[in-house]
Formats: sequence, structure tokens, C-alpha cells
Amino acid sequence: MKVLVAYLSETGNTEKLAQAIFNSLSSGEKELLPLEKVTGLDDYDLIFCGFPVQAHSVPKKASHFIKSIPKGKKVAFFASHGSQRGGEFAVTAFHHAVSLSSDLKVLGTFGSRGRVKMQLVEALSKQLEHRAWAEEASNAATHPDEADLKDAADFARGIIIKARAS
Ligand SMILES: Cc1cc2nc3c(=O)[nH]c(=O)nc-3n(C[C@H](O)[C@H](O)[C@H](O)COP(=O)(O)O)c2cc1C
Repeated sequence: MKVLVAYLSETGNTEKLAQAIFNSLSSGEKELLPLEKVTGLDDYDLIFCGFPVQAHSVPKKASHFIKSIPKGKKVAFFASHGSQRGGEFAVTAFHHAVSLSSDLKVLGTFGSRGRVKMQLVEALSKQLEHRAWAEEASNAATHPDEADLKDAADFARGIIIKARAS
């Protein structure tokens, strides 16, 4: 099975998750690439696609990438976000990712908290539309941590099992 781990990351949090996922995959055919370095998708059997949550959603570059995935491909999404894990803000972003994937086989999603620069938290807390998640993000400074990276690796192993079975 040929597996691609593709990610968008502005400050390195999502990249750490991508590396943990990549390292957890057995040494078959696997590739780890930032989204902008991906040149073709036809050859992959499974694509892990990672992005930072922005404005409760999928950043434009990542949504373009998702829309470019060929019909019928197996995909799994992972994301980092300042807000609480499993909370409404993060889940909303995954709903957006899944809604872009109606022609794809979505095998699962994984979210981890990710550090947000304190200056940004302070600036965004002043804007009504960002206040709620930015307040949650104020204590995400240590993430992703070792436990998050282990969870990302466990998630990836589970996805591989699902991909083999489907
Ligand atoms: C412009 C902008 C908007 C963001 N919006 C959200 C958001 O809506 N919800 C959230 O939980 N985190 C939000 N974040 C925080 C990022 O998702 C978080 O810091 C993430 O871990 C960054 O990942 P990266 O280091 O891979 O770029 C936002 C960050 C930026 C810069």
C-alpha cells in the first residue's frame, strides 16, 4: 500500500503531527510532503491530509488540495488547533474537511491542540469572531506534546488497519 502524508503547517505544529504519523507507518512505500510539494496523487492508495484549523475551518490551500484528490481515494484528516481537543471549534473544521470530500472515502479524523503565539491570542481575543477559540487557545502553549504525538501515531495505525480492510 502506497501512503502519502501531506500537510500544511505555518508554525510547525501540524508538521510535528505529520512526522509522528509518518514515523508510525511501517517502512513500506510511504512519503511525507508539505502540500505545496505534492506533484501527483494517482499512485497513492491512502492519503493522510493535515492542516492547521483557521477560523473554525480548513485553510484555502488545504481545501484546494482536498478538492484535487482523485475520486474514490481513501483519506484521513489530521489537524492542529488552539482550541480544546474534541471541542466544537475543532469538530466544525473537520466537518468542513469532510464536506469537501463527498467523492472520497474518509476513514477518520484526528485533532491535537497546537500552540498559538501569545501575541496572536491577545490580538484575536479582541475580535468577536475569534474570541471564543482564542480564549481556549491561551493554555495550548505546550502542544503538541509527547502524548499528542503518541495519539497521532495510534490514530495512524488504526487508519492503516481500516484502509487494508476496506
Ligand atoms: C489566522 C489564524 C486563525 C486561527 N483560527 C483558529 C480557530 O478558528 N480555531 C482554533 O482552534 N485555532 C485557530 N488557530 C490556531 C491554529 O490552528 C494553531 O495554532 C495551529 O496549531 C497552527 O498549526 P501550524 O503550526 O501547523 O501552522 C488559528 C491560527 C491563525 C494563525
